Amino acid sequence: MNNSLKAVEIRKDIYWVGAVDWSMRNFHGYETSRGTSYNAYLILDKKITLIDTVKAPFKDELLRRIASVVNPAKIDVIVSSHVEPDHSSALPFVKEYARNAEIITSQPNGLKGLTARYGNLNYTPVKAGDSISIGSRTLNFVPTPMLHWPDSMVTYCPEEKFLFSNDAFGQHLATSMRFDDENDLNTILFEAKKYYANILMPFGKQALAALSSLGGLDMKMILTGHGIIWRENIETILDCYSEWASGDVEERAVIVFDSMWGSTEILAQTITEAFARKGIPAAYYDIKTTPMSDIVTDIFTSKYLAVGSPTINNQMMPTIASFLCYLKGLRPQNHKAFAFGSYGWGGQSPGLVEEELKAAGMEIILDKIRIANVPTSAQLEEITNKILELQ
Ligand code: FEO
Repeated sequence: MNNSLKAVEIRKDIYWVGAVDWSMRNFHGYETSRGTSYNAYLILDKKITLIDTVKAPFKDELLRRIASVVNPAKIDVIVSSHVEPDHSSALPFVKEYARNAEIITSQPNGLKGLTARYGNLNYTPVKAGDSISIGSRTLNFVPTPMLHWPDSMVTYCPEEKFLFSNDAFGQHLATSMRFDDENDLNTILFEAKKYYANILMPFGKQALAALSSLGGLDMKMILTGHGIIWRENIETILDCYSEWASGDVEERAVIVFDSMWGSTEILAQTITEAFARKGIPAAYYDIKTTPMSDIVTDIFTSKYLAVGSPTINNQMMPTIASFLCYLKGLRPQNHKAFAFGSYGWGGQSPGLVEEELKAAGMEIILDKIRIANVPTSAQLEEITNKILELQ
């Protein structure tokens, strides 16, 4: 047990008691290049309250931080905002100490999910509009279904003007300093956008509904479930969420490809150059060298997408198939796309890519580009002209 792990005071009698996962690099397929944190908060009031727990392997870190200010056996209330195990899987361990604690969870989906995973741990289900007094403070519960699981909810403390937001407004970002103003804002905002793109993109409507239900709240801090706590840039992150949830895109192009012997790569270079000549900034991603999570973050707010793959065994490259499967699941909106690729014989890949782009809801603005063997200068010029003529 590491006795140097302490609670971090956020305000008198309110502490961050979470865990920092510096080494996390893959969060169920989301490449987390800057690690993450599992944030939990402790309120010392008449009823000692813990908001969320952490991922089970970090339970000792949580318990150690709690024990630095209060005996965990004294916890009266645990709010479980979300069943996903990165926030709930340490619950059974905390309950071994806090034997009498009631666990607040959403009705019906939080209750169902926690019971299925951990059995009966003494749950109190709550619904929209429910609140409890923990002494000098009140906790109001606001369900945020499908943001991003059916059970998700947030908690607002009106006396402190604190919103405990769980996944919403979070970032997969490991830091030693807990607040937004103690870290680089551009890095935080990039990771917040990446988090939104990779976790919340399919749920824009629900995000807009949640923003509207939270819109009237006076917030002094947003205490997230991952990454930093917002206190200086609350308007900025709320504005970002409104913009991201709207599905609006910028005049920008993303080119994603794999290549076997360089021909599809030449096509990708040509397409990138053509967009730039048209005055549209373009980003060029070789799928072999850039994590999918970073690529979809860029696609999320870019109007144009070109996806290229050579043909292998009558199929597209498995790397591109995997990428398109991931992208389709995120239900991207308002994009204009086309497919390209080279081939030796057969040449099915661009057609298969085009079908997947359509299935992902994209508007096809250019017929698939299929080039046998190696593109000629005339073919490259023709491709350039087609892109220059795009409306
Ligand atoms: Fe951070 Fe949906 O769990």
